[in-house]
Amino acid sequence: MMADGKRQAAATIAAGDPAGDAMAAGAALRQRHGTLEGRPDEFDLGGRTWTLLPGVFAPVHTMTTETFTRWLPYPEGGSFLEVGSGTGVTAVTAALSGCTRVAAVDISTAAVANTEANAVRHGVADRMRVLKSDLFDELEPGERFDVVYWNSNVIDAPLEFEYVDELQWAFFDRDYAAHRRYLTQGPELLTPGGRLFLGFNTLGNLGRLTEIAGELGVELRAVQRLGGALSGIGVELSLLEVVAG
Ligand SMILES: C[S@@+](CC[C@H](N)C(=O)[O-])C[C@H]1O[C@@H](n2cnc3c(N)ncnc32)[C@H](O)[C@@H]1O
Repeated sequence: MMADGKRQAAATIAAGDPAGDAMAAGAALRQRHGTLEGRPDEFDLGGRTWTLLPGVFAPVHTMTTETFTRWLPYPEGGSFLEVGSGTGVTAVTAALSGCTRVAAVDISTAAVANTEANAVRHGVADRMRVLKSDLFDELEPGERFDVVYWNSNVIDAPLEFEYVDELQWAFFDRDYAAHRRYLTQGPELLTPGGRLFLGFNTLGNLGRLTEIAGELGVELRAVQRLGGALSGIGVELSLLEVVAG
């Protein structure tokens, strides 16, 4: 039987309303991630086993985490910041791949606990700092990184959207306020030659993001692209690099 969120997504997609499609697809994804029945408490990805806590974006339901984690560069001996770390797969992979200073931030308390658990599980807690933070707010003033990355909550939610639980942060960004801040503040956090990435997909509003980038004088370059599905919803994933315009 089709779950309510999925039925709603299918109905709205049939109606041909792109913004409504994305909101309905986000509701379906939120519902799927929030369902505890059948949800594993650990999963395998990239040749490792990871802890999965309730209330956290689950890399088992979509291919985004695995794909972006495979595509990203991890500077040997360098520093890496993951925004919105969720279970911590990408940040921990950075630490295991030779980055000697890794920071992971998430606005969700459950995600912070999950990232900490996986840092301990994989023996890299000594190289990693995990913070509950709205984007860059809790970083040390003046901190800089060689790579900054976010697999973002791509759905451009309307201004009147109300967050009712932490898991919604994984999918919805009200009025693209956090995306605007990421493009504004992200470049300031880079070391000379550092690189700023955004893991994006076609449920997101690339037109609006490109407009925001233009206003801020930065460019978005797709450095990798792949067609796929998010919980059965067809999308294209792209790893965007934010570069000075
Ligand atoms: C699509 S999920 C990706 C999770 C994880 N990086 C992965 O790939 O599995 C987006 C993550 O961004 C976090 N997030 C959303 N808005 C945020 C903000 N303003 N500051 C920090 N984290 C945020 C969410 O809580 C969620 O964990």
